Amino acid sequence: MSDLTFLADALEEIKERDLYRRLRPISGVQSPRVQMEGHEVILLSSNNYLGLADHPALRKAAIEALERYGCGAGASRSISGSMELHHALEERIARFKGCEAALLFNTGYMANIGLLTTLVEHGDLIISDEFNHASIVDGCRLARAEVSVYRHRAMDHLEAILQHSSHRRRLIVTDGVFSMEGAIAPLAEIRHLADRYQALVMVDDAHATGVLGEGGRGTAEHFGLAGQVEIQMGTLGKALGGFGAYVAGSKALIDYLINRCRTFMYTTALPPAIAAMALAALDIVEGEPQRRQRLWDNTAYFRQGLARMGFAVMGETPICPVLVGDNALTMEADRRLMARGVFVQGLRPPTVPPWGARLRAALMATHTREDLDKALEAFQSVGRELALIGEGR
Ligand SMILES: Cc1ncc(COP(=O)(O)O)c(C=O)c1O
Repeated sequence: MSDLTFLADALEEIKERDLYRRLRPISGVQSPRVQMEGHEVILLSSNNYLGLADHPALRKAAIEALERYGCGAGASRSISGSMELHHALEERIARFKGCEAALLFNTGYMANIGLLTTLVEHGDLIISDEFNHASIVDGCRLARAEVSVYRHRAMDHLEAILQHSSHRRRLIVTDGVFSMEGAIAPLAEIRHLADRYQALVMVDDAHATGVLGEGGRGTAEHFGLAGQVEIQMGTLGKALGGFGAYVAGSKALIDYLINRCRTFMYTTALPPAIAAMALAALDIVEGEPQRRQRLWDNTAYFRQGLARMGFAVMGETPICPVLVGDNALTMEADRRLMARGVFVQGLRPPTVPPWGARLRAALMATHTREDLDKALEAFQSVGRELALIGEGR
């Protein structure tokens, strides 16, 4: 056996820098209140924005699909793993997004890596927002194209990069909703610049699907640009309550991915019950707009509550980060909130920039006012104890 003490040394260093992570198990279902280590806590850390992760319609759809189609797909989509439920879901997603076609991926991580390593080549340029998700960053690292990073949502910087590029093809990539900032990408301006400089646009709607836009169709719909973004990806595991991901766009895009995209081609297809859950989730997203309205009402209520207390609240979406700055202080706030029955994840580098440790609260449609008031009270107490806000607030 080889000596692995170098890992123990590296872990020690991670601990010394207050960057050590451990996994915290939740018992029971994903709901606004969950059981953790024997205590009930208010869950304010989940991307289950619409509360669909435990919805009876999704459970029923999954159970029926399990009974009818069995458990696994048994092979990749390109071989014998392509089942009728996958195709039904792809057609449904294409309609939902107002695109010609869609393709399922096993995770959003794999979709982003696959897109960025497949669509651009040597001689091309990827232009990426500095706060894009890690899966986009990793896709950029693995891509053969050159990569330029523009300052977060800075359109003058994006334009300067486009102006100086003589690359064969340019691909602008952005999160629709930034997962650690809670901010929305300025997609209308990005579209405008892309048209002006003949660039393609790719939007990651992981946190926008089911959340943004009147019909919950994502960032493009929010900006009145449905069907006008060349490459849209999103996940089925956040607001849609299940698991998996999709890419939506033109028929040519999807056909090319089926033929060339390695993270689609060389992996076992999603279990059919997963597709059934997503179909049931889309019924709810389209049929129950009041659920999305509740999410946004909760978002406004919670954000206003924190801002009134004097917290440094970031962004504008159900992702509601509170900037703390220091790693140790952030994790102390995380622990004290948990001790008061509120689970808000503290985030440290490399998930956020070195100066930007923060508490990331995330709202759900299914939080009650009582949940939110209790969480706000806990924030106020912990904020005062740790001098994150003034005493008088
Ligand atoms: C912006 C963004 N893109 C992509 C992903 C990856 O999606 P998945 O969880 O399906 O791998 C995530 C988070 O998980 C995300 O926040």
